[in-house]
Amino acid sequence: MKFFLDTANLDEIRQAAALGLVDGVTTNPTLISKEGDVDFKKHIAEICKLVSGPVSAETTSNDRDEMLKQGREYVKIAPNVVVKCPLTTTGLEATRILNDEGIKVNVTLCFSAAQAVCAAKAGASFISPFLGRLDDIGDNGLRLLEEIIEIYDNYSWKTEVLAASLRHPIHVIEAARMGSDIATMPFKVFQQLLKHPLTDKGQEQFLADWKKTAAAKA
Ligand code: E4P
Repeated sequence: MKFFLDTANLDEIRQAAALGLVDGVTTNPTLISKEGDVDFKKHIAEICKLVSGPVSAETTSNDRDEMLKQGREYVKIAPNVVVKCPLTTTGLEATRILNDEGIKVNVTLCFSAAQAVCAAKAGASFISPFLGRLDDIGDNGLRLLEEIIEIYDNYSWKTEVLAASLRHPIHVIEAARMGSDIATMPFKVFQQLLKHPLTDKGQEQFLADWKKTAAAKA
């Protein structure tokens, strides 16, 4: 399973990329707004310098032609830019056209298996089911992910399943158990994946015990 970072923060991307564990980045207008008064295209270009895998840049309109215009501009930023379109009627129309032009689209804001099927048929390169937001309203995000993977496995659609809106390591691990192609996660969740209190405690003990040995005193 590929790991994407769900952030527009350059420091976070830099830190995670240094570990060699980041296969891509997803951004959205909310994440961009958290970075202050940045120039959007320049900011995406900076992210693309840090990560060689897909970097999603989201369109910001409900109008099909405006999405097309933005998408065609975004892909000029860097070769690894993927255009994000919402899972709406006009978003899928734009997806179909951009896909026909050879532009990769990440269809975002997916909350049902039916929507995921439509996105795949429209030529999406990625489908982003939002697990955490479904959990937030008392639904079951992991069940949606399971349904999508099961359905996609029946066909040879090229669409990769990109588990999104992940809130904690259990989301990531369950997504991996189901065979999700990608999990995109906030930096905090990425950090949580690496941590275990018994690892810290064990390492502390090993280092303390090592100091008692003849080898350490030599
Ligand atoms: C995906 O591409 C989105 O940016 C993201 O996962 C949304 O997550 P949120 O529900 O934490 O905002």
